[in-house]
Amino acid sequence: MRTTIVAPSILAADFSNTGAAVATVAAAGAPWIHFDVMDGRFVPNLTFGAKMIADLRPASKGFFDVHLMTVEPESLVDSFIDAGADAITFHLEACVHAHRLVERIHAAGRKAGVSIVPSTPVWAIRELLPSVDMVLVMTVNPGFGGQKLIQRATRKIAELHELREGGLGAYDIAVDGGINTETAAEVVALGADVLVMGSAFFQSADPAALVRWVSTLPRRGSSQTA
Ligand code: DX5
Ligand code: ZN
Repeated sequence: MRTTIVAPSILAADFSNTGAAVATVAAAGAPWIHFDVMDGRFVPNLTFGAKMIADLRPASKGFFDVHLMTVEPESLVDSFIDAGADAITFHLEACVHAHRLVERIHAAGRKAGVSIVPSTPVWAIRELLPSVDMVLVMTVNPGFGGQKLIQRATRKIAELHELREGGLGAYDIAVDGGINTETAAEVVALGADVLVMGSAFFQSADPAALVRWVSTLPRRGSSQTA
């Protein structure tokens, strides 16, 4: 049975002490860490590169989930593979040869994900669904943490769940942006498997309790196991 995974986004952590942030994630029992890579072109913000992943890799046994918000992700993927990423998600809107990029990530033995911004419909990734390990539904316009969830974007979660139930792939459905104690239950009930949480996790008084609470949220029924 699939369980709901919390992936804290390091973007909301104190960058002067990312080692401590990784330890906080582990202590809270969150199995994944979400790395928001922004290039100042695909999105109007700049964060960090592969060195951040490489430097934190020895400090964590967690699953390193890299979210590339960059133009030309093809030119960056190898550096994140070498740095120790477990999964690399790129944006459909930034990549012409998306299928080829998925194959390249798989050839390196890593998980491949595709992300769509709020204005991109699910049908745009239909041809990729049989081959990706994850679909990252942006529930905010990417580029910043702490934004309010865009309600309409949550419809895609149910759509992806139905397509998966219909046999079009075995991908995880991940949601990213504005996920907190007010919005988590709804997205899990719609079919989300992975909850990226930035501000809600790192501003929480008790991150471990938050992670435990997410695991109790009723999940949408599924005939598929993970
Ligand atoms: C936004 C990023 C998100 C963001 C989430 O472009 O992709 O991962 O850090 O932060 P919150 O949970 O605060 O919306
Ligand atoms: Zn992200």
